[in-house]
Order: sequence, then structure tokens, then C-alpha cells
Amino acid sequence: MEPLSFFSQTRVLIVTGKGGTGKTTVCGVMANLAAREGLRALVVQVATASDRLEPETANLSHLFGRDEVLGYDEMALVTGPSGGEVRARALRPDTALVEYLHLHGMRRLSRRLVSTGALDVVATAVPGMPDMLVLGKVKQMERAAAAGSPGAPELIFLDAPAAGHAIRFLQSPHGLLEAASGGPVRSQAQEVVDMLSDPDRCQAVLVTTPEETPVSETVETAQLLEDRAGIKLCAVVVNARLPVLPLPEHLESAALSELAAGAGVTLAPSELESLIVAGKLRLERQGAQAAQVVRLAEELPLPQLELPFCFSADLGPDQLSTLTDALGRSVAGWQPVELP
Ligand SMILES: Nc1ncnc2c1ncn2[C@@H]1O[C@H](COP(=O)(O)OP(=O)(O)OP(=O)(O)O)[C@@H](O)[C@H]1O
Ligand SMILES: [Mg+2]
Repeated sequence: MEPLSFFSQTRVLIVTGKGGTGKTTVCGVMANLAAREGLRALVVQVATASDRLEPETANLSHLFGRDEVLGYDEMALVTGPSGGEVRARALRPDTALVEYLHLHGMRRLSRRLVSTGALDVVATAVPGMPDMLVLGKVKQMERAAAAGSPGAPELIFLDAPAAGHAIRFLQSPHGLLEAASGGPVRSQAQEVVDMLSDPDRCQAVLVTTPEETPVSETVETAQLLEDRAGIKLCAVVVNARLPVLPLPEHLESAALSELAAGAGVTLAPSELESLIVAGKLRLERQGAQAAQVVRLAEELPLPQLELPFCFSADLGPDQLSTLTDALGRSVAGWQPVELP
């Protein structure tokens, strides 16, 4: 599939998965690929639960070679020659509330909330409200994208909370819809639920590493996202897979020293020993990863996209470029799965 067709499936891609599997990295890589295709992409990082009001934004800027911490205002991370760009912003429930009040003619109230320090309390007082405020803002951006408003992005990547929290986060509008009998809360909740359940407007991407626990959790999250939050799943990204080396199954010193000699290298017996240990470990790990990739395909009938493990202490623009190339190849080889 052409990357452009892949990205034109929907307007908001919610990226979630087990903690630390690479959600933020995948958002950056996908947005970068979209920008290469000439699209205006926006990455939105969210802080939702009251226990984490600050979105964790350093990794994303770093990936694009920037030091600035993302804030409420959009920041351009990349501007491409073909008009494509990656912008990013961080959303917090309290700032989303201030903007909501401004847009709805309640500027004085919002100023009072800020000056009295009551903003946090109000934004987070009702269970589910912080999530709704953030998702309400995402919905507003999606509407602007749909209308082709000047300066609006064409595609939004939502760097969502880790799996368990993501389900609660995405279920909140459903809960508020049941709880509120009328008024602005109910209508906001309804509009957010409408967006989440319309695949032309919003779909989810799951991120996992090819390891046993993340794969099991991904399968579980997939079901919950569909059943409880009513969100269509678009793809699963297998992140940080070790490149598969064509190693012989039986590593032994004689064959190895012959190979080394062929490459003009003489190895001491201790070096040969270490290489054999490292080779065995790599064989074992790449075999275990391959088994998890197969299990994931069996248990989750979704297209798989794959990103390689980068041998680097931290990820910056070079790794971003490598990962974007890899994602482009993976999308190009992607076949849409016809589900029954
Ligand atoms: N393909 C990769 N190769 C090597 N390192 C990676 C890869 N993808 C992510 N990482 C590293 O793994 C760590 C976690 O990645 P990232 O922050 O994207 O995960 P996350 O799912 O967003 O985490 P959190 O749940 O904390 O938000 C980071 O240090 C990142 O640089
Ligand atoms: Mg993250």
C-alpha cells in the first residue's frame, strides 16, 4: 500500500500500547513519514490522569533533534520541501478547559479560575472530565482538519497513555454520556464518542515489542479498545525488532575462525569463545522474537508494521530517518486484511 493511501484512511490515529514499547517514537516516525508524503501532521501528546498532569514530551523533541520542551502552543519540528510538516503540542486538561471557556464566551470565568488557582481542581474534579477535556480539544482539531481550515493539520497522531490508562481515557466520554442527562457536558461527550466510533475520523494503532508480555497485553488491549471504546484498530506496529542475522544454527570455533580468516581477521581463542556466546544469544533472541511475531499475527488479525531495533543509546534525527525509511518499506509491503 502507498503510504499516502495508508494515511488517508482516517484523520486521527490514536497510538497506544504497553508502557515503554515506543508509542512516542512511533508517533514521531509516523508523522515524519506523513510529512515526507507532503502531509501536514500534528503530534499531540496528552496528560490525562490527575496523577500525571505534565505530558512527557522530551523524547519527541529529542527524536527531531530539538531541545525545547513541548507546550500547549504548536511547535514546528520538521518542514519538508513538498509542503509536508510535523508539528507537535502537548495537551493538559486545565489548559484545554481554559480554551473551551474562551471559545464559549466565558473568558472572565477562566481568568478567575486561573487567578484563584482553582483551575486544576475544576478541570479534574469530576471523574472522566480531564480525559473529556483533552479529547474534546482533539475533536475540535479533527473538525478543523476535516473542514480544511487554514493552518489546520491534515493528520493528527495522538500519543495516548499506556494501554490500561488508554482504555479508561478513551472510555471516559462514554461514561459521561451515561451520567449527564443534558447540557454542554453531554453534548461534548456525544461529539467525542461520535468521533471515536467513526473510522473515517479516528482509528487506533497499537505498539508492541516482539516480546511475550507486551504481545499478550496488546491482544488484550485490542479487544478492550474495540469492545469498550468502540474504536477501529488500524494496525499493530512491532517496534524494536532485532534485525535477523543469517547465523548458522550450530556455531562452532573451526567454522567461525575460517569465516574470520576469509575476512582477513585472526581471532584469539578467547575472542572466538565470546563471539560464539554472543551468536548463540542472538540466535535465541531472534528466534523468540520471531515466535512472538507469529503468535501476534495468529491472535490479532491486524496488519503488522515493523520497525527495527536501533543500536543507539538514545534516538535522534539519524535514527528517526532510519526508522522512517523502515516504516515506509513496511507500509509499502502492507496488504489490507479483509476481516469477515
Ligand atoms: N526502535 C527502537 N530502537 C531502539 N530504541 C527504541 C526504539 N523505539 C523506542 N526506543 C527507546 O525506548 C524508550 C521508550 O520509547 P518511547 O518513549 O517511544 O516509549 P513509550 O511507549 O512512549 O514510553 P512511555 O510509556 O513511557 O510513554 C526510549 O528510550 C526510546 O528511545
Ligand atoms: Mg511516551
